[in-house]
Amino acid sequence: MNQQPLIIDCDPGVDDAVALMLAFGSDAFELLAITAVGGNVPVVKTARNARILRQIAGREEVPVFMGADRPLRREPAGAGEFHGAEGLGDMTPFEPGAPCANGHAVDAIIDLVMGRPAKSVALAVLGPLTNLALALRKEPALADRLGPVAVMGGARSEGGNITASAEFNIWADPEAAAEVLATGCDVVMFGLDATHQVRAAGARIAALEALGTPSADAAASMMRFSQRVEKEIVGWDAPPVHDPCPVAWLLKPALFELQPCRIEVETHSELTRGHTAVEFRVDPAMAPHRWAVSADADGVFALIGEACLRPAAPSTTLRAVPLPHEGGGK
Ligand code: BDR
Ligand code: CA
Repeated sequence: MNQQPLIIDCDPGVDDAVALMLAFGSDAFELLAITAVGGNVPVVKTARNARILRQIAGREEVPVFMGADRPLRREPAGAGEFHGAEGLGDMTPFEPGAPCANGHAVDAIIDLVMGRPAKSVALAVLGPLTNLALALRKEPALADRLGPVAVMGGARSEGGNITASAEFNIWADPEAAAEVLATGCDVVMFGLDATHQVRAAGARIAALEALGTPSADAAASMMRFSQRVEKEIVGWDAPPVHDPCPVAWLLKPALFELQPCRIEVETHSELTRGHTAVEFRVDPAMAPHRWAVSADADGVFALIGEACLRPAAPSTTLRAVPLPHEGGGK
């Protein structure tokens, strides 16, 4: 199978955690790296959480790089009320067995993308766009080398989830989002208009719990936590599961309807900080971006279930060391 090389830039985060389980369990990806950014919780915690999740999924060969600890110009925000103080909902974090990889996430993104054929590496951005903006500042040629940049962020017809106008990832670092969108990267944006269609209804969580694998248990635990806090804070019975959407699109594009557009981000007004102005009145052939307008929620949950059911992919790192009873010949 031809695998899609993929880097996931994220801030786990309960829905980032589900997205990671989806990616870890999918044979269709060659996972080059997880890069962590400060967002839902500080970067030291998001990087630790990414390492915890890869350990649960048995994917310790996938390197985790720590990235930016603060937005380009704004104060770090945080969304602990929706993710728990540690970022993993009800799960008690533990110190993972393997450390972060050496080097900064920004350099890892540059090196991994520039070292591969043009357009071959996809990037899924599931947190504030700080790491990618910094990488593009440092290596502007990255914009032409990157494959699709599938971003969870933005809001249009649904309105915002952090203010009336703005979605959290874009609001948290609006300058970073504005810079990335202006570079010519092939950005496909999965904002609230689409992700609010993908909801963890009780039956969907129960179906995951019934699978009984460590990945499924972890993903279901994140969703149960979201179900409780979104009920308390927003009044919803079924919380949206945002971050798996870009990953699911990379796996199965037919699950989403996209429209060509041009997206710009408000950075001047405090009132509408981080608003995504999505302009569809553009020549489709010249449109620089794409915006997700709808999602097939059953299809997304089917992918999550399949990924969580798959036995953990054997770690190449672990397999490289033969067990004592192996290698002797019979
Ligand atoms: C986005 O904000 C974060 O809190 C979630 O992880 C998701 O990436 C949703 O607005
Ligand atoms: Ca996130």
